[in-house]
Amino acid sequence: MTIGFLATLYPWTKAIHIIAVIAWMAGLLYLPRLFVYHCETKPGTESSERFKVMERRLYKQIMLPAMLTTFAFGIMLALTPGLVDGDRGWFWVKIACVLGLAGAHGAMGKWRRDFLHDRNTKPQRYFRIANEVPTVLMAVAVIMVAVQPF
Ligand code: HEM
Repeated sequence: MTIGFLATLYPWTKAIHIIAVIAWMAGLLYLPRLFVYHCETKPGTESSERFKVMERRLYKQIMLPAMLTTFAFGIMLALTPGLVDGDRGWFWVKIACVLGLAGAHGAMGKWRRDFLHDRNTKPQRYFRIANEVPTVLMAVAVIMVAVQPF
């Protein structure tokens, strides 16, 4: 199913999609770094409380609106005539990466709440590794849509 008038909006839909993707990725790549440094602080200290404010603002004021905008304009692009052939594998590999990124977003929400309530038990190393997951998913998603290899 496609929607004809979306074809006239295509350049703007794609531009807003890419802007939202960049903002969402910035948050997905930065928030785990804040968790790495937050691990170095003692619960209740001034710096621990400051990290909580930074994490909340990044998650609620940047990452959430950026994710919702990425999805909304991504779906508008998918409904634009001539862009997506459901028989081509690239689109489904991309969607799998997108769902993985949404899962990473959700996991970061839970970790943020753990820090907020001073009940984080995960070590710095855990968040350093977690930081790499969105990087790999983003790279595969962009290669799939830009190259459309299969
Ligand atoms: C529900 C989520 C998403 C959907 C349905 C979606 C769908 C699409 C579609 C249909 C296009 C147009 C392809 C074309 O012009 O031929 C597109 C472009 C693009 N998407 Fe997404 N996308 C989603 C999420 C994402 C995410 C999470 C990323 C990055 C991590 C991303 C990166 C891009 C890029 C870079 C382009 C421009 C490609 C180009 O100009 O060649 N998208 N997307």
